[in-house]
Order: sequence, then C-alpha cells, then structure tokens
Amino acid sequence: MEVLEVMEKVRVIPIAVVESPGEACVLADAMQEAGIPILEITFRTSEAPEAIRHLRRSRPGMMVGAGTVLTPAQAEQALQAGARFIVSPGFDEELAAWCRSAGILLIPGVATPSEIMAALRRGLHTLKFFPAEAIGGVNALKALAPVFPHVRFIPTGGIHPGNLVDYLQLPNVIACGGTWLADRRLIREGRREDLTRLAREARALAEQAKGSTASSS
Ligand code: 3PG
Repeated sequence: MEVLEVMEKVRVIPIAVVESPGEACVLADAMQEAGIPILEITFRTSEAPEAIRHLRRSRPGMMVGAGTVLTPAQAEQALQAGARFIVSPGFDEELAAWCRSAGILLIPGVATPSEIMAALRRGLHTLKFFPAEAIGGVNALKALAPVFPHVRFIPTGGIHPGNLVDYLQLPNVIACGGTWLADRRLIREGRREDLTRLAREARALAEQAKGSTASSS
C-alpha cells in the first residue's frame, strides 16, 4: 500500500521523539498491535536516522517516515535510512526540489494561503497544517476548503483525543498527526500496553468520525 493510502485508512499518525532504536521499537510494536502500521520519527534527536534504519530492518510491516526535516541534507539521511516519506514543519523550496528529484514523498507544513499556493506550484497537494490549534484549527480548515478544493490536509499541533473527531470529520482532512500517541514518558519507561491503549482509543475515535461524517451527509 502507498503511504497516503495508509494514512487515509488509519487516519492517525504518531509523531515520535526517540532517544534510541530500542525506544522506536517499543512504540512501533504498540502501534502495530493497535492497527496503526505507520510512524513518523522526528529529526529532533540525533538518533532519528538510526532508529528509522533499525525499524526498517526489524519491523518490515511498519511504514516509517521522517519528521521535522528542515534541510535537503536531513532528507537525504532519512532516505538513506529507509524513510518512506518526509514531513517538514514549513514549506521550503529547496527541500521540495530535493525530495522531488529523489522521488520521495514530501508532506510540507503550511500555515497560510500563500504557503499553500507555493506548495501547489510544486505539485504538492497533501499538506501538513501546522501548528493546527494555534492557527485557527477546525475553523481555519473549513475556511480554506472552498478556496483550495483539491488540497488535503494533515493537521498536527495541539491534536488530542478531545478534538480529534472534530478534525477527522472535515472532508479536507485525511489524517491527523500528533505526539500524544507517542508519549515520551510511556516510551522511556517501556510501557507498551499503555501506548497500545492510547492507540486503540485513537482508532476508535477515527471510526466514530467516519460514522458521524456519513450520517451528516
Ligand atoms: C509536529 O511535529 O507536528 C508537532 O510536534 C505535533 O504537535 P503536538 O506535539 O502538539 O502533537
């Protein structure tokens, strides 16, 4: 299955900060158990490339991407480690050009109509909406929908079980990302069952969003 198909199916993307490949495995196993075979490992720690490489080798069923990628050099490291997709917090021309020529999917962050237009010029239609809650959240996404009918958003930043359904009900949202699914303390303490519980709760909320979208249309 392609990356975007998986995102659209699962509808939640755990965004992880890991200090070691072992931590990444704890999280990956918990997510897989709950039916979330996708994970974004952020380049906020120097262990990120090694964690991605280790997951690709030892957890082949997991679709692993790299997050918080700021430069083409980091994107190259991520690709070499086996990342299947790249997420950046903002839109950067150079990064977009590099990912295009390397043939790897880039999901750039956008916060304004101008940034959305810059991404569209590069042929990118699936965009991270960041930091979602701070830039108007659900209301902003509703306002952008008629102006950019072909853009699909992945809101991240401030998403949690209490507002997840509101986002997932929007027709222009394919999935939501967040660190709440990759709780640092639970990962550090190896509490896989608690992580699985969080992931199952998110899956149930995603199902609920599907049901309410269907009934309101
Ligand atoms: C990101 O990388 O997209 C953000 O860290 C997600 O924000 P959150 O920590 O509020 O989930």
